[in-house]
Amino acid sequence: MKKINVGLIGFGNVGSGVIKILHDKRNLLSEKVGVEINIKKVCDKDFSAKRNVSLDKSLITKDAKDIIHDPQIDIIIELIGGVHPAKEHITEALKKGKNIVTANKALLAQHGRELFTLARDRGKSIYFEASVGAGIPIIKSLREGLVANHFYNIFGIVNGTSNFILSKMANDQCTFDQALRQAKENGFAEKDHTLDIAGIDSAHKLILLTYLCFGRLVNINDIFIEGIAEISLADVTYAKELGFQIKLLAIAKKEKDELEVRVHPTLIPQGHLLSSVTGINNAIYVSSDLAGNLLFYGPGAGQLSAASAVVSDLVDLTQGIKAGLFRPTLNIVPDKTIKKLRKIDDIESRYYIRFMAEDKPGVLAKISGVLAKFGISIASVTQKERTRAQVVPIVMIIHEAREKNLREALGIIDRLSVIKHKSVAIRMEEV
Ligand code: HSE
Repeated sequence: MKKINVGLIGFGNVGSGVIKILHDKRNLLSEKVGVEINIKKVCDKDFSAKRNVSLDKSLITKDAKDIIHDPQIDIIIELIGGVHPAKEHITEALKKGKNIVTANKALLAQHGRELFTLARDRGKSIYFEASVGAGIPIIKSLREGLVANHFYNIFGIVNGTSNFILSKMANDQCTFDQALRQAKENGFAEKDHTLDIAGIDSAHKLILLTYLCFGRLVNINDIFIEGIAEISLADVTYAKELGFQIKLLAIAKKEKDELEVRVHPTLIPQGHLLSSVTGINNAIYVSSDLAGNLLFYGPGAGQLSAASAVVSDLVDLTQGIKAGLFRPTLNIVPDKTIKKLRKIDDIESRYYIRFMAEDKPGVLAKISGVLAKFGISIASVTQKERTRAQVVPIVMIIHEAREKNLREALGIIDRLSVIKHKSVAIRMEEV
């Protein structure tokens, strides 16, 4: 049986999961794949931390060059995460004729164009299934399973940490800070957890999904990003009472010849499948012309689920190598009907709005008067409390409005003397 040598850079949580799967599933994999996948070297800067697999000492190196420059290694798995030095390692490895498997969403989102071009020029491939949705085979499904489809939109819950926090707030009445603390204890958060809660990690993943569905590798600055840090327990609770869940959604939506790309907390109806995605689970809901509306769902983080995706990429690559062919991944073709990216000011959405206002006659008239001036129509209003505290939450749902108009209206409303705090506005999607 042909032996294919693999080098692993990054023996952390997911890296040790990959070694574990290749060890535990050795026979199953060789039977299914028809080649022997042999881990030839493993690089990490520190081997002292305890892992759930052991490594033969002869495989260990602290210098990535020992892997990159090894002529017998065909495939390199990069699992160190972050942009540097991962970018330099992958660049050098491609130049040395290696194929790459990576889970590095931040790197591909920021430098994908350069790296994918280099790979193509060198007749090599970069596989990245584990970069979105961990073990959910979303990349392969979009690229191969749905190859003949045109896509209309993507709605993704693609950050497990944020989803865990929002679910905890909705279901257990935890405050944001309590929920964040638990999320960090669970170990799914990024090293810098602001990447999760500020929506950056979701934006990185959205860049990759948009690339696969619409053939455009958008820049992170093209994406409107709003995280969940400002979401309060009050809003989660009021939304629930109104029949909605708040989810951090990564959205790519085709509107005529424009594409909207945005990440923000969103109210979705409780009856929708996405609203029942709780905890660290991810779900990617895509609409396409042939296959219709599809939902890909499962754990979005975790050692073995991410490692499962890495192993699947590894196996894909072995098939080309086994046949002695350059077996490139399918071309990613731009959707030529998309002429430009729509700016956030120009999107139209329904909104949930919470005003904190004085409890006295005429307040609603003042608010609705400003909204009316901007052509914004109110769908429902609820005053949540009647207290002597004088400041009460007024929760409003408004019909479709242009974002720019709503922002201008809120700017004026927030300066009214009867309004005591900055208003909260959360976009809504019917999905
Ligand atoms: N920090 C990420 C998350 C890990 O919470 O989803 C998986 O990419």
